[in-house]
Amino acid sequence: MTFDRRYFEDPDFPPGLKGGDEVRGYGYYPEYFPTVQGQLSALVELTSARTLADLGCGKGALAAYARRDLGLQVVGLDFSSYALGYAARGNGVGWTLRAAITAIPLPEGCCDAVWCNGVLQYLEAAEARAAMAEIARVTRGVAFVSNIAAIHAHAEWGRRDHLTRLYLRPSAWARLAPAAAAPVALPFEGESAILLFGPACAGESGALALRFMDLALARLRRLGALERTPPTLAAFQRRCRGVR
Ligand SMILES: C[S@@+](CC[C@H](N)C(=O)[O-])C[C@H]1O[C@@H](n2cnc3c(N)ncnc32)[C@H](O)[C@@H]1O
Repeated sequence: MTFDRRYFEDPDFPPGLKGGDEVRGYGYYPEYFPTVQGQLSALVELTSARTLADLGCGKGALAAYARRDLGLQVVGLDFSSYALGYAARGNGVGWTLRAAITAIPLPEGCCDAVWCNGVLQYLEAAEARAAMAEIARVTRGVAFVSNIAAIHAHAEWGRRDHLTRLYLRPSAWARLAPAAAAPVALPFEGESAILLFGPACAGESGALALRFMDLALARLRRLGALERTPPTLAAFQRRCRGVR
C-alpha cells in the first residue's frame, strides 16, 4: 500500500473512507474529527499530559489540534512523505518525523501520551505486535490505540480496502500488546480501541479507563458526535467497577 496523494485525496481510491472534512485529515465521516477531539481532550485532561506523539498522524489534523487548542508539545510521525508534507505545511504541525511505527526513532518514555488512530490495521500481525511494543516503549503515561473494527470486513468499503490487513476486536488488539503495559480494551462504537498504560499511570489503569470512557462520551455527546452508546459500554463499566 502506498500512502501517497492518491490514497489521501482521491475519493474513488480505497480505503473508500473519504468524506466529511478531508482538509483536516480526519474526514472519514462528518462527525469523525469531533469524535477524536473529544477522546483526546478527555485523555489529556485526565492524565495532565503535556507532550504527545501522534503515531501514523496522516495529514496531521489531530496533532495540529493538540498543539493549537490543547497547548501540548506534539510530534507527528508517519512514514508517508505526502502526509507529513501536508501535516507540516497545510496543518502547521510543528514537529514531524518520517519513520515506520515499528521502529520509532524516539527515546524510551519520551512523551506523556501516545495517539495512534487507524494505523495498525494496515500491518501484519507480527508488525502490529512490534508497533505495540514501540508504542508502550515511548510513552511514560498512556497510549490510545484505535483501529477499524472487525465488522467492517463485511462492509462494502471494507471489502474494497484489500490492503487493510487486521480486523480485530478490542480484546484481540489488547492481546497484541505487551503484558507489562496493562492494556484495557475500550468499547468505542464502530472501532476497536485500547488504552495502554505506561509507568506513570499503570497503577490506576482500571479507574483511569473508566473515567476516560465517561468523560470522552460526555464530550462526544456535547459535540454532537455520537448518536448511540457503544453496545458493550455497560458491560465494560460493570467489569471495571467490579474487578478493580
Ligand atoms: C487511515 S490513515 C490514519 C491517519 C490518522 N491517524 C487518522 O486517523 O486520520 C493511516 C496512516 O497510517 C500511516 N501508516 C501506515 N502504516 C504505517 C507504518 N508502518 N508506519 C508509519 N505510518 C504508517 C499512513 O501513512 C497513514 O497516514
